[in-house]
Formats: sequence, C-alpha cells, structure tokens
Amino acid sequence: MFKMVSAMVRTLIAGNWKMNGLSSALSEIQIMRDQLAELAELADGADCLVCPPATLLSRVASVAGPRLRIGGQTCHREDSGAHTGDISATMLAEAGATYVIVGHSERRADHGETDLEVAAQLCAAQGAGLTPIVCVGESLPEREVGDALTVIGRQLQQSIPDVGQSGQNLVIAYEPIWAIGTGRVPTPEQIGEVHHHVRTFLTRRFPDHGAEIRILYGGSMTSKNARRILQVADVNGGLVGGASLRAEDFMAIYRTAIDPD
Ligand code: 13P
Repeated sequence: MFKMVSAMVRTLIAGNWKMNGLSSALSEIQIMRDQLAELAELADGADCLVCPPATLLSRVASVAGPRLRIGGQTCHREDSGAHTGDISATMLAEAGATYVIVGHSERRADHGETDLEVAAQLCAAQGAGLTPIVCVGESLPEREVGDALTVIGRQLQQSIPDVGQSGQNLVIAYEPIWAIGTGRVPTPEQIGEVHHHVRTFLTRRFPDHGAEIRILYGGSMTSKNARRILQVADVNGGLVGGASLRAEDFMAIYRTAIDPD
C-alpha cells in the first residue's frame, strides 16, 4: 500500500480557491511565490498550482512568478460564442492559466455537469494547451453500499475520451464528495484502493504513459494529514480547498510534499 518514491511522476500540490474572492489574494500569492523561490532547489520534484476565481486570474498570474502555476476552476466546451456567464479554455490560457479543473463535484451538483460534458471540457482544455484536472469521486451513500469503485470507474470511462492524445496532458483528482469540506478523510487503505483502481484504468487506456499520469487526492487535506496521504501508493499530489486559501497553510502542505521524511 505504501510507496517507494517514484522518480517518474512529479508531485503536484494544487489549490482550489473555489468562490472565494479573497481581499488578501495577491499578498497570499506573493508569499507563495517567494517561498517557492526559496525552496527552488528542494522543489525540483514538485509542482505548485493555485486555481483562483476567474475574476482574479490575470492579476494573480501577473504576480505569481515562474514557479507558481495558475489554473481555472472550469471551462466551457466551446471556444467562444453566445454562452452568457461562461469562460472558455482559450480565455483562461490568455489570462495566464496553464491548468483547469474539470468535473469538480460542486460543478456536477450545482450545474448538472455530466461525464460527457466533462469529456467535452477536457478536450477543449487540451485543445487550448491547458492541462485538465479531471475530478472523480463517490458520494457517501455510494461508498456505504460498496459502489465507490464502480462509480469512479464509470466516471473515468465516460469523462476521459478514448482517443490518441487525451492522456498526454492530463491529471486526475480523486475527491470523495463526503470528504470535501467536512474534515472527514478516508483511511490510507481506502485512498490506496481507489488510486490503484484509477491507475489500473489509466495504464489500460494509455499503455504508453498511463503510469505517468498524476493522480491527486482531494478532500479535507491539511498540513496535519498531508504526509500520511501523500505516502500512499499512486498518490501523486493533492487538490486542496480550504487549506489553500492562506499561503501559510498551503505552503506547509507543499513542504510536506517535497520533504517525504
Ligand atoms: P477541501 O480541501 O476544502 O475539503 O476541498 C477539497 C476540494 O474540493 C478541492 O477541489
């Protein structure tokens, strides 16, 4: 269950700021930028990403510096047109994003996004040169009746197109819905079981590079539990909500990722 250090897969610590328009956003980003510069030698094996609300994206990107990556929280399947309130992957890229989260359970719940919609967003993101982070995860009732792996398998099958290049530039995030914002974290065994399941799917779908696609864990990750979670086999980083809003908390998680002892 627990891993040997994998040389192949670079860890990614990603923050999802959700709908929080922090007044301190730019100063938090500056602190992250400066700490990443200080940690640069150690940080060779880990990437750091923040996904702010779209309204903050270009300002955040302008102060982020060379080591902090910036991402969007969703994107439309189309590149432009009559889609009031939406934002395209190309627009995110123009604002300075290099990643975008797609299929977050909050988008699925609030906006009825289906797996097929997520697949279209994934293609749009890759078409615009962004790396999509595809979120999957089961609800509590699904876990309680023993359906977690079935649900996640279906989400993966349907939201990751079975076409040539779609795995080249891709990250998966396992986010059990019942762990998001609740302080409840699955056991390392539960996380390991799902991540192994996701890895098996990826290596079957993309025999050449499925072993190198990063699989993040998300759901109530903090600096206190990060080490335990990041030690699980096939956990290649974290997608952090609440604990990414303050640079101090987020960088404590990042430091855990670059210092596995
Ligand atoms: P929390 O870390 O606040 O539980 O949120 C996780 C999440 O949904 C990240 O996308």
